Amino acid sequence: MESTKRGRFITLEGIEGAGKSTQVDQLARLLRERGLSLITTREPGGSPIAERLRALLLDPLNTGMSETAELLLMFAARAEHLERTICPALESGIWVICDRFTDATYAYQGGGRGVDPARIAILENLVQGSLRPDLTLLFDLPPVLGLERARRRRGQADRFEQEALRFFESVRAVYRERAHACPERYRLIDASASLPEVTDHVRELATVFIDLTLNGRYADSNA
Ligand SMILES: Nc1ncnc2c1ncn2[C@@H]1O[C@H](COP(=O)(O)OP(=O)(O)OP(=O)(O)O)[C@@H](O)[C@H]1O
Ligand SMILES: [Mg+2]
Repeated sequence: MESTKRGRFITLEGIEGAGKSTQVDQLARLLRERGLSLITTREPGGSPIAERLRALLLDPLNTGMSETAELLLMFAARAEHLERTICPALESGIWVICDRFTDATYAYQGGGRGVDPARIAILENLVQGSLRPDLTLLFDLPPVLGLERARRRRGQADRFEQEALRFFESVRAVYRERAHACPERYRLIDASASLPEVTDHVRELATVFIDLTLNGRYADSNA
């Protein structure tokens, strides 16, 4: 398939309450305004079996899950998500906007739980081959603020939200390191700003990306 016909893969990352889900909707609106076909999806989840694995992964009753089991379940869900949802869309020219992807595994299982990133990289290559997001928006903010927003939104904390603040500081640090190491793919957004400011920033960054893509000047790394 011609590289210009392939859909683009955009991921949104950041800790709880950073504003990812809010901005998925804004981004989808912008893409539709530009006449692009798209789907929005999320991880863990995004296909029937992956959503069942999501329930297992987030259930606060599943205390004491082994780190390796958690890591493998994340990638099992991702394999399903890629095969059923993401790859078929991209191959037929549909853009994919995904709320969290493999950066979250490096940040949560790597930074948060202390899993060796080399182990994560092995699974990333196994499950994804060479597929990587074309653009990743990182919503960065202090965990205290993110968790306060997330808690205001819903009462019951999930298995990850129950972690201590220190866990989220490590998650944030890994996200930031990854963004700094690969500026071609990541865009860092100050998510502590007001909602209209963050929305404007997202639109601005996405517009540049769409213009470059539609003009055929953006490298198609996954063709
Ligand atoms: N820039 C902002 N300023 C203030 N409140 C915001 C901002 N962005 C989002 N919110 C609010 O914060 C809450 C969390 O936002 P959202 O659900 O988009 O975060 P999230 O990153 O998807 O969180 P989670 O990882 O828990 O799903 C929502 O109630 C949302 O309306
Ligand atoms: Mg969300």
